Amino acid sequence: MQANSALEPHGGVETFNYRVVRQFSIMTVVWGIVGMLVGVIIAAQMAWPELNFGPYFHFGRLRPLHTNAVIFAFGGCALFATSYYVVQRTCGVRLISDKLAAFTFWGWQLVIVAAAITLPLGYTSGKEYAELEWPIDILITVVWLSYAYVFFGTIARRTQKHIYVANWFYGAFILAVALLHVVNSMAIPAGAWKSYSAYAGAVDAMVQWWYGHNAVGFFLTAAFLGMMYYFVPKQAGRPVYSYRLSVVHFWALVFTYMWAGPHHLHYTALPDWTQSVGMAFSIILLAPSWGGMINGIMTLSGAWHKLRTDPILKFMITALSFYGMSTFEGPMMSIKTVNALSHYTDWTIGHVHSGALGWVAMISIGSIYYLIPRLFGREKMYSTKLIDVHFMMATIGVVLYIAAMWMAGITQGQMWRQTNMDGTLTHAFIDSVKATYPYYYVRVLGGALYLGGMFLMAYNMARTIMQGKAFDAPVPAVSQHAHA
Ligand code: HEM
Ligand code: HEM
Repeated sequence: MQANSALEPHGGVETFNYRVVRQFSIMTVVWGIVGMLVGVIIAAQMAWPELNFGPYFHFGRLRPLHTNAVIFAFGGCALFATSYYVVQRTCGVRLISDKLAAFTFWGWQLVIVAAAITLPLGYTSGKEYAELEWPIDILITVVWLSYAYVFFGTIARRTQKHIYVANWFYGAFILAVALLHVVNSMAIPAGAWKSYSAYAGAVDAMVQWWYGHNAVGFFLTAAFLGMMYYFVPKQAGRPVYSYRLSVVHFWALVFTYMWAGPHHLHYTALPDWTQSVGMAFSIILLAPSWGGMINGIMTLSGAWHKLRTDPILKFMITALSFYGMSTFEGPMMSIKTVNALSHYTDWTIGHVHSGALGWVAMISIGSIYYLIPRLFGREKMYSTKLIDVHFMMATIGVVLYIAAMWMAGITQGQMWRQTNMDGTLTHAFIDSVKATYPYYYVRVLGGALYLGGMFLMAYNMARTIMQGKAFDAPVPAVSQHAHA
């Protein structure tokens, strides 16, 4: 298909479709700020309960708004932006359809806006990370199928024989999310904004956490590994440490994730053996996860000195360290006896955010910093110093957040299980709530720091865009390099 309205700085030469990448990149930062702002608000509501106002501004309504905004709006836009960029560059062709790519952009923004309106109004299916009601679910399916067509269609018309490993991860993410979304969202509508799940009881819970865990595995992990496999070697100026390891851990990861869901349902009505299967597969998951982490970090072999001066690389390598930490912590928490302590406590929230703020957000931030100058015809971001300050704020913010939640979680878990000589509970539940307050204050501080960093990023991005001009790189003549 020919290039259409795209800017063609090289007079008639076919260019890459950077327009859609620019749009998604900018919205990544915008939704990152919105989602994290809501995060800081709900963190503040837990620290100061009087901040819960009326039904619309209540923790219960804002919490799903936060999770949807950060995962699907912020994370989703980052994944659309980077996957469209990577698939074009590594396949050596323009996207198969500019119109459909534009449709995925506007369609996805519509989904986000619909979520931002319906969730505070209280319309929800009640399934975590799949709260949106059926009309929005149908829109998501249409957008997602278009995304799949654009992505795989572009791969099909590639001029490179080889399909670079980053595309494998993005491809698995697109296929898995389609499957997860369609199966878990099966519901009987009972009005325009109300539906009932097609599943009942323990089966519903099982399907929900098969979905929930694989949303972590494919949305929050595999896809971001795709990002890692392109942008870390690029920024480091080094080839991937081991291509063989990348292929082995890809297959191991996609196979193993699918079975681990029941670790979210330990000690519930789910058959005991399924819980044990979930636990066993979760422990096995440590190996492929660390395969990816080691491959990413070792890509820096011979280029470690760059870490001293390059804050974008710092973001990426710190992201990988957090990926390693959270994928060590997860398998430990999946062990039933450990889960008996951690479940229902803030330890889970600490784990979530070491993955989310440490891994997902940091690798996205690094990759978007890499992209912005290239999409606007600049050599680098407006201010490297500001990226460095952002990195400091984000790192201190995430450490404050997760350390506070670990301490809060272990305190809660220990207080709940402590008994007196006569077998009665030592602490009333409310005592554990009181004991948690200091940690909630620290979390607000950590979250605010992280959010502050995002504002710096927005400023730096705006200045870079103002200095530059939308730029669409020309598609090179068939090149021999797998990752252009
Ligand atoms: C400024 C940054 C952030 C702050 C202050 C923040 C704060 C919070 C708070 C207070 C909760 C509710 C915890 C509870 O119910 O006890 C929460 C939940 C959650 N957040 Fe964040 N968050 C931030 C960023 C993010 C990001 C970037 C992501 C994902 C990429 C994320 C993903 C989640 C998820 C998945 C949950 C639900 C956890 C669960 O149900 O176990 N958050 N966040
Ligand atoms: C080997 C990898 C991992 C394993 C085995 C694992 C395991 C676990 C376990 C056992 C829980 C607690 C379940 C409970 O008690 O309810 C959990 C919760 C969670 N994990 Fe992980 N984890 C892994 C990696 C990650 C990563 C990298 C992320 C984020 C990027 C993440 C995000 C989450 C979220 C969002 C929850 C909370 C779900 C909820 O209850 O709402 N996990 N994980």
